[in-house]
Amino acid sequence: MSVNMAVVTPPEETTSVVTRNRVVCFVDDELSAAALRKGLDGSNLVIRRGTIRHATRMLETDTDLAVLVTDISGIDDPFTELERLAGVCPPDVRVALIGDNREITFYRELMELGVTEYLPRPITRDMVLDQLRPKLLGDVAAAQVDRGGHVVSICGAQGGAGATSIAINLALQLAETTKAKVALLDLHLQNGETSVMLGLRPGPGLRIALENPMRADTLFLERAGIDVNEKVCLISADEDLDAQLDITEAGVRHVLSLLRQRFNYIVVDVPVPFPPSIYPVIKTSRHVLVLLEAEVTGLRNAHALRTAVTNIAGKDRVFTLLNRANRAGGLPKATIVKALGAEPDMVIPDLGKGMTQAVNLGIPALKHVSGLRRHLAPIVREITGVGSQRKSRWRRLLRL
Ligand SMILES: Nc1ncnc2c1ncn2[C@@H]1O[C@H](COP(=O)(O)OP(=O)(O)OP(=O)(O)O)[C@@H](O)[C@H]1O
Ligand SMILES: [Mg+2]
Repeated sequence: MSVNMAVVTPPEETTSVVTRNRVVCFVDDELSAAALRKGLDGSNLVIRRGTIRHATRMLETDTDLAVLVTDISGIDDPFTELERLAGVCPPDVRVALIGDNREITFYRELMELGVTEYLPRPITRDMVLDQLRPKLLGDVAAAQVDRGGHVVSICGAQGGAGATSIAINLALQLAETTKAKVALLDLHLQNGETSVMLGLRPGPGLRIALENPMRADTLFLERAGIDVNEKVCLISADEDLDAQLDITEAGVRHVLSLLRQRFNYIVVDVPVPFPPSIYPVIKTSRHVLVLLEAEVTGLRNAHALRTAVTNIAGKDRVFTLLNRANRAGGLPKATIVKALGAEPDMVIPDLGKGMTQAVNLGIPALKHVSGLRRHLAPIVREITGVGSQRKSRWRRLLRL
């Protein structure tokens, strides 16, 4: 008798947040499949044959699910596979695992990483009913560890430092490298430039959502988010210059939390100086990139901006990025290092007129300037933690 696979038609598009209720299981033996089928009966259940590797592959193109149950038996290094899974799994999806390991330390490690539950094989219907079902389908969201998406704030120490260019291209390269879902949030509601640079028109609703959290439900994202490509979504606005905006801290928190449920990374183009209402964005950021050019103005402001970020979010969040480093007429490196009190954490050289051409063409510079990808790569590595210790990466991905 083979595993009874439900027939699944992949959705055309990622469906609305409110309709995501699929429970997807990838298991390799028929006993587990039967136990899950009976124990999770009544839910929108899909059982497929496979392991965690198949689950990761599916999530690269299909994230229309609320729960994932998958098998890690026989996998040599389950933590590496989990890391891959975490890279593409929306943060609000509850993940349960089934495997052969019965050691309590293994169980604890998985729980620490944000896995909802782990059951050693063989599993039974009653194990699923008693131990999995309440955690996966019951209302246990409050007890979950914080698995919100990773927020990266980009702020320019001086006008024209390249904040918007870096935010856009970083968002694209993060998605390309990790295959994760990335939101690009432009908090310059008046004359924001992300949409212009991408040749797109902002969707409606961001201003209202930021002003009044009661007005932003999960459908807000469907309206306000404009797809840049299948992984990257732009959330921006184009309010009149004379509009009286009344952005509230509660609105900012709410929008950020909606985005963090849905996206693995949220790259924010942050206005400077920060209005107090957007402090939650800085506070929630894992990385705040302070951009400057090799100019006196940039140096002076970078120092003040770093201090402001440190006061709001803590010292370990701030990274100084020197942009257009070798630009003709700029201050010499030694002067910059002296004024900053340290080497900049990240450096991007002047990449020539192609960068400005890309702006005028309304296309991402990544597609137009060949060197940009190489210079963004170390920044992407710093943010994703690829190459760093396994556990810390999971901690960073799944909880702040
Ligand atoms: N590394 C670089 N090399 C060459 N040109 C660059 C580089 N980075 C940014 N630019 C160019 O500098 C100009 C300003 O960039 P951008 O608009 O991204 O800066 P900004 O900090 O967002 O400015 P604003 O203060 O107006 O928001 C653009 O024409 C952009 O293409
Ligand atoms: Mg800008």
